[in-house]
Amino acid sequence: MPLQIIVGTQWGDEGKGRIVDWFAADSDIVARYNGGDNAGHSVTVGAKLFKLHLIPSGIIHPRPVAVLGNGMVINPKSLVDEIDMLQKAGIIVNPQRMRISHAAHLITPVHQALDKALEVARGKGNIGTTGRGIGPAYTDKASRRGLRVADLQSPDFSERLGNLIEEANQQLKMLGALTIEPLTTIKDFRQYSDAMLPYIADTSMEVDSALRAGQHILAEGAQGSLLDIDLGTYPFVTSSSTTAAGVFTGLGIGISAAAGAVVTGVCKSFQTRVGSGPFPTEVFDDLALQLRGTGANPWDEYGTTTGRARRVGWLDGVLLRYAVRINGLTELVITKLDILSGFKTLKLCVAYRQGDETMHSTFTDLPFGPSNLEGYEPVYEEFPGWTEDVSALRSWADLPQAAKDYLAAISRLTGIPVRLVSVGPEREQIVSAA
Ligand code: IMP
Repeated sequence: MPLQIIVGTQWGDEGKGRIVDWFAADSDIVARYNGGDNAGHSVTVGAKLFKLHLIPSGIIHPRPVAVLGNGMVINPKSLVDEIDMLQKAGIIVNPQRMRISHAAHLITPVHQALDKALEVARGKGNIGTTGRGIGPAYTDKASRRGLRVADLQSPDFSERLGNLIEEANQQLKMLGALTIEPLTTIKDFRQYSDAMLPYIADTSMEVDSALRAGQHILAEGAQGSLLDIDLGTYPFVTSSSTTAAGVFTGLGIGISAAAGAVVTGVCKSFQTRVGSGPFPTEVFDDLALQLRGTGANPWDEYGTTTGRARRVGWLDGVLLRYAVRINGLTELVITKLDILSGFKTLKLCVAYRQGDETMHSTFTDLPFGPSNLEGYEPVYEEFPGWTEDVSALRSWADLPQAAKDYLAAISRLTGIPVRLVSVGPEREQIVSAA
């Protein structure tokens, strides 16, 4: 199994970082293929909590080489800060251990300013973006005027960056937003360029060679399937291909690597979402607080990148089945099972109802994808909860019967096995089904 793809099955924040960390110990390469520093991947090792936004979570293990693929959009300042943070924490980050695709696009301060100004202009219809400039950077990529990592080496880079800033400033003025000062930005980018140059590589070729040599490549998805630009709850999505197919364009590897690939879907044991958009199983008040936590713990449901309180709800099995289909998932990892301890009854959405009509969760019952979810009422199957604290458990056999029944129902609904369950934020708090 040379290729393993890890994707989120929901709206991001499924806990992919720590699951990547689990599999990374035995991997040769851990590669990000989409998105930028809108992602926030947390890994807790002992007393230390690592929050990674750009660098693949696998870097925390000594073995794998970290790759930032061509499908990413990279904010050089965030990257340089993240390298610094890791090095100070004793993690080795050097050009032998980390490679950045020459073809990844750059995020500049104008992209961030535009992201924020466009959100203000959208008013009530805003997307709730992270404000990291992701949408505007991918817009420039698609309109073929974006700056790429390789351009940092080009003699006319400063001029091109200056032109990009001038153009964006016109747009910022029209939006009534503050403009960006070109000279300071150009000076800053010279510094980032010096720091990034040793890491720049043809990562497409390198990952391809590794695959041919039978090495184990772990592709780390950012955000979740329901935020995919093509297949998510459009327009309340991010601007990249978050699903498994994005691996091939986002790392520049041939589709034949898909044969025999393991595609692992990471799914929280309940549903969360940051930002706007449909959320049929959303809950409020005390129930929401119980699922979300108060914010006192780092694992409570508050954004790693923005600190925003996440919307929460019961697990949506209809959307999960959709994620299984569009990614071709071969297995599931269920995270945060410990949070469900203490609920008298658990609900799992198995279908939707519209008016008097119940739409069973067969594949044909999500017509036209998930964008059209307004007005759909969830139909729940109820399960008895459990009171036991599961966080110290490491063996499947020791899980409460009610927890096993809930997991079995998820497996039945999706048609794929649950391989791992996480029962706490620590690296070792994993229960394996095998
Ligand atoms: P953007 O990616 O900043 O453009 O934001 C678009 C939508 O995706 C917003 O609803 C964000 O809250 C959401 N989003 C982006 N990145 C993440 C993530 O890593 N986790 C959860 N939601 C995200």
